[in-house]
Amino acid sequence: MKEIFERTSVRRFTGEAVPKDAVRKLLEAAMQAPSAGNQQPWEFIVVEDAEHRRALAGVSPYATPLVGAPLGIVVLLKGDALRFPECWRQDLSACTENLLLEAVHLGLGAVWLAIADFPSRIAAAKKLFNLPEHVSAFAAIAVGYPVEKKKATLRFDESRVHYETYP
Ligand SMILES: Cc1cc2nc3c(=O)[nH]c(=O)nc-3n(C[C@H](O)[C@H](O)[C@H](O)COP(=O)(O)O)c2cc1C
Repeated sequence: MKEIFERTSVRRFTGEAVPKDAVRKLLEAAMQAPSAGNQQPWEFIVVEDAEHRRALAGVSPYATPLVGAPLGIVVLLKGDALRFPECWRQDLSACTENLLLEAVHLGLGAVWLAIADFPSRIAAAKKLFNLPEHVSAFAAIAVGYPVEKKKATLRFDESRVHYETYP
């Protein structure tokens, strides 16, 4: 799948807005992810307003790409009624990666910006969005049209692969 091998983190964006149908596709891809027991423990906040993006960027010291991106998407944990509470991180990671790959497919660029499991970032996002008790922020994703197209480095390393047993 070419999108996997073309994806790189994009942190600089042109000013061009992300069309509504592309935003919808990103969210469809995210929600198409596998999850433990199909528990789908996700919700999203779409952030386009420049002031809101700036405030969101303030949640983490490493989230400045949100300032210049036309679109931010916050992936939220919807933590009530989890069938497999041990698995929400895997579920939300699969969901986030799906969104990143769909971005490549649509000619967009994106970067995953960590919120969980940093307590101060989780608390800041909770306050910013006035999230209820059972909802918390997992990650923010900055999305837009890349200023430059970076070539991905291929990372396959045969020495990391073991057959039948370890090492
Ligand atoms: C869990 C996770 C958290 C990350 N958090 C940040 C972040 O806070 N800020 C940032 O600029 N990049 C962040 N990244 C992007 C990584 O820095 C990037 O994926 C890594 O350097 C590999 O580069 P590539 O995505 O271009 O292949 C994160 C990636 C992952 C998977």
